[in-house]
Amino acid sequence: MIIYYYSTTGNSLYVARELQKSLPDVELRSLVTAGQEEAPVVDTDCVGFVFPMHYFGLPLQVEEFLQKLTLANSPYVFAVATCGVPYWGTPFMDMEKILAAKNCQVQAKWYVRLVSNYIPYRDIAADWRIAIRAWLAEKKIRKIAKAIAGREHHDTWQLLKKFCQSYHDKWQARQQSIDENFQCDKEKCTACGLCEKICPRDNIKRPNGQPVWQHKCVECLGCLHICPVKAIDYGDITKGRKRYRHKEVKAADLLRGISAAK
Ligand SMILES: Cc1cc2nc3c(=O)[nH]c(=O)nc-3n(C[C@H](O)[C@H](O)[C@H](O)COP(=O)(O)O)c2cc1C
Ligand code: SF4
Ligand code: SF4
Repeated sequence: MIIYYYSTTGNSLYVARELQKSLPDVELRSLVTAGQEEAPVVDTDCVGFVFPMHYFGLPLQVEEFLQKLTLANSPYVFAVATCGVPYWGTPFMDMEKILAAKNCQVQAKWYVRLVSNYIPYRDIAADWRIAIRAWLAEKKIRKIAKAIAGREHHDTWQLLKKFCQSYHDKWQARQQSIDENFQCDKEKCTACGLCEKICPRDNIKRPNGQPVWQHKCVECLGCLHICPVKAIDYGDITKGRKRYRHKEVKAADLLRGISAAK
């Protein structure tokens, strides 16, 4: 079994790893690294995708990868979307549309609710809330693993489809200007380079040590969350807000899945 994961603050990597622990013969593959291949092919009887929900839909990086992936031999396909608020969105519908064009179905879909890392909207949840969600997520992941082992079909809610899709499309349309919101506090920046390393799009250059964004951002927020001195902000709105990484995932684990692609 191969599980492709995409993760910038660790939630999806955590879920992918837990599934790997509970199921036999699972290989985890970074979707960013795999996406560097011109024509990636997966040839196995079971393929999974674990990714965050972005703007009620698929992250742009995941969408692009699915477009170019070839799935040989009609495998059992499952998908897990990690999120802050489940059910409001159409990530699986979007995925099914792409794979249907390749005569492939998504047999099982689940949301796993963890913590929203989208701090331009609101601050990271309180620790007690994170702990409850982690406990519930652990139980849900066990159920998901069991269903995958039995190659079961599983559907889930995707609410407010039209609203969510038009919101997602509008976001995608303004992709080139997304990173105009980022700013770096030169007084705080230590020129450590982590923001550049975590970026799955090679969208950060550092001619003088500090990040300069190159207008091909997918708004994963990896750079903002990984900065050890909170030098990066999204406008003024994220100032004073917490930064996030799943407690069981190290920065090095996230970087491994991205830097290998560079
Ligand atoms: C650009 C962006 C958009 C997001 N949109 C949503 C959303 O529509 N619904 C939601 O529940 N969470 C949303 N989130 C939160 C993430 O889906 C959530 O924190 C996810 O678990 C992060 O996974 P990761 O740590 O593997 O990157 C968004 C996050 C980002 C960065
Ligand atoms: S991660 Fe932060 S401190 Fe490091 S180079 Fe980037 S902005 Fe500067
Ligand atoms: S610039 Fe930052 S938010 Fe944009 S793709 Fe790179 S790491 Fe993600």
